[in-house]
Parts: sequence; structure tokens; C-alpha cells
Amino acid sequence: MRKHAMIYGASGFVGSGLAGMLAAKGFEVTGVSRKGRGDVEGVSRWVKPEAVDFAGCGVVVNLAGAPIDKRWTDEKKKEFHESRVGVTEDIVTKIAALPEEERPKVLLNASAVGIYGGRGDEVLDDSATRGGGYLADLCDAWEKAADRAEALGVRVVKFRIGVVLGKGGQAFEKLMMVFKLGIGGRLGDGQQWMPWIHVEDLRLAMVFCITTEAAEGAVNGTAPEPERNIDLTRKLSKAVNRWVFFPVPGFALKLALGGFGGALLVGQKAIPTKLESLGFTFRYRKLEDALNELTG
Ligand SMILES: NC(=O)c1ccc[n+]([C@@H]2O[C@H](COP(=O)([O-])OP(=O)(O)OC[C@H]3O[C@@H](n4cnc5c(N)ncnc54)[C@H](OP(=O)(O)O)[C@@H]3O)[C@@H](O)[C@H]2O)c1
Repeated sequence: MRKHAMIYGASGFVGSGLAGMLAAKGFEVTGVSRKGRGDVEGVSRWVKPEAVDFAGCGVVVNLAGAPIDKRWTDEKKKEFHESRVGVTEDIVTKIAALPEEERPKVLLNASAVGIYGGRGDEVLDDSATRGGGYLADLCDAWEKAADRAEALGVRVVKFRIGVVLGKGGQAFEKLMMVFKLGIGGRLGDGQQWMPWIHVEDLRLAMVFCITTEAAEGAVNGTAPEPERNIDLTRKLSKAVNRWVFFPVPGFALKLALGGFGGALLVGQKAIPTKLESLGFTFRYRKLEDALNELTG
């Protein structure tokens, strides 16, 4: 495999740390960004999406996506779609335009556990079917756009990412803020499963899939031991030594955040069967260990 990787979203939370890991493995890393960023370790140059040329590139990583923790207005939904499905379609079109021998060997594309919809206590491995709802529709279209690269001779890996815990990540920083203020609490009845993953494990799992020929198709990017929201709440409050609980009622979440609030009330008990069967070892299997590392 040619050791040149191009990362869409190298300026973002997951991608910025991934660049350094790939560079440490001997990859030359190009960041693809609408605005660029000078200070990402491992990125040797930046290109804008419209200037991308994959000739000579062995690996494409697509982590682009507008943040979805906003009210889901029609305008926002258009942005969510364009930045995920639109960007992925553009990548595949660019790959198709190249002669076969010049095409990248791997496309690692982001997706999310939202593809499963709300599934109660059902155990969801990587082969589980898609669910219903707006996020499931969005993720399904995103994955189908990536799948089109398979017919071009590219190994496609679709990471169904859970709630990523790591410093600088939106989900984690927001959780920490409300808990430190003593206003953290379970969401709704708290029984919904939250498939979390430590950001370091997520990035290492991505490098593992890039360099492991047998890794392909859908891959759950989640830790082996998901937690119910109520248990995550308890463990986080213990980790930050705040014992105040203000449960957030479901109706208030929906009122405040609309569709996104509704999505926080349904869960997915996703487990990383494929990663583990391929031989990937998680550093953070237990939420307590991840939280202890992140809260010092
Ligand atoms: N973090 C999580 O908990 C989580 C969970 C499930 C799935 N995911 C998915 O995993 C991927 C990486 O997550 P992340 O947390 O690293 O995201 P992030 O920090 O928000 O970065 C995503 C990247 O997307 C690009 N982007 C943002 N808005 C865009 C738009 N309107 N059009 C085109 N590109 C846009 C940005 O690149 P430039 O501004 O440099 O162009 C940015 O670097 C995303 O696709 C996300 O949906 C994340």
C-alpha cells in the first residue's frame, strides 16, 4: 500500500490525533480542509476539498461532518447531509475518475451508531440491520455513498462511531461542564444504552483497520462494555466528585434541542465484535478507566 494518507476532517477532534498516529506509522499525511489549520501534528500539508487529487494516495480517511448537536432545522439538515453524504459522494467521484492503478486502496469513512435507531436492550454487533428515524436515514445514505467505492476496487471500512470521550471533544466537554457545575443528571429515565469509546481507542482502531487487510465493511467504533445513561451519569459524577443529580426530563430535552434531544433519549447497545475478532485490543474497556484517565 502507498504510504500516503489524505484525511478529511484532519482539523477536527478525532482526525487531528489520528494524523499523528498515521505519521508515526510512516505515512505521509495530507489534511483536507475547507480552511486548513497549521498546527496539527503529523500533517505535512493541507489542501482544500476542491483541489484534492488522489493520484499517489494509498488511504483516504473521511471524517468530515457538520456537528449535529444543534437544533435540526431544515437548513441544518441540509448541512448535515452535504457535509457527510455530499462529501463522501465527491470522494468516490474523484476516485472513479482515476485509472485503476492510481486509485487509493482503502477508504475509511465515518458513520455513527445512530444508524441503528433506538433499539432498547437489543445487542447490536456490526452485522445488525439499520433502524428508523432521521439519524438512521442520514447514516444509511452516508454508508451507501461510501459503499460505491467498493466497485472501484477500494477496501471500504465504515466506522459506526459511538459517543467519543476525549479532551476537546464536544460530547465530553459538555458533559464535564454540566457535571462540574453540579447540574449533571440522567437524561429521561436513563435506561437508554450509551455506546461510548475513548478517543485514543477510536483512533488506534482506525489505524488498525487501515493496516489490517481483513478489515472491511461496517465496524462498530464503540467500547466492549456500553453503559446505560444512568450508569454513565453515576460514574461521571463520581469521577468529578459531584454528587448532585438533576434528572433532565425527556420532554424538556426535546423542547430544548428538538430532534437531537429526542436522539439522546434512545440508545444502542452496540458492541465491537468485528474489531475484537480481528485482534484489536482496547485500552479502555471499562468506562471507569476511561473517565479516570480523562479526569485525571
Ligand atoms: N465525536 C463524536 O462523538 C462522534 C460520534 C459519532 C460520529 N462522529 C462522526 O465522526 C466524524 C469525526 O468527528 P469529530 O468529532 O472529529 O468531528 P469534528 O471535530 O466536528 O470535525 C469534523 C470535520 O468536519 C468538517 N466539517 C465541519 N462542517 C462541515 C461542513 N459543513 N462541510 C464540510 N465539512 C465540514 C471540518 O473540517 P474543516 O472545517 O477543516 O473543513 C471538521 O474538521 C464526523 O463525521 C462525526 O459526525 C463523531
